[in-house]
Amino acid sequence: MALIQWGVDCYTGLPEVDRQHEELYALVNRLDGAKADRGAMLERVLDDLGDYVRDHFALEEKLMLDAGVDAAHQDEHLAAHAVFIERLGEFRRHSVAGSEAAADEVLAFLTGWLKQHIQWTDRKMAMEIHTRMGTEAPHNMFAHF
Ligand SMILES: [Fe+2]
Ligand SMILES: [Fe+2]
Repeated sequence: MALIQWGVDCYTGLPEVDRQHEELYALVNRLDGAKADRGAMLERVLDDLGDYVRDHFALEEKLMLDAGVDAAHQDEHLAAHAVFIERLGEFRRHSVAGSEAAADEVLAFLTGWLKQHIQWTDRKMAMEIHTRMGTEAPHNMFAHF
């Protein structure tokens, strides 16, 4: 059973964003799935994740800019991304290679942050992009807003 599961509650209807979110979940699950080797994999996964989210955040930031999303929403979203990058950097600096406890802490943070950010912040962004661009928002997917 995957630690973090991509599902309709993560759906944005922005194909590249959705694809990248699935990829991010796969990276987190790869670390969790390494079981006793998690500690040894930690630094590598943090590096991969750092590279991947930089591209991913840049994509979302460009989509918001292109769609003319409200500046306050953009600022808030960018600030959330910056906090995540900062936190990854902290983990990278302080994680002890081979430490299972560090891997557990990182996994708890990643699953919590990604789920919350994708389900709320990214989906809110997607809803605004769909509205402004006149594109089809996936029906019923935004029902809880
Ligand atoms: Fe995202
Ligand atoms: Fe985001």
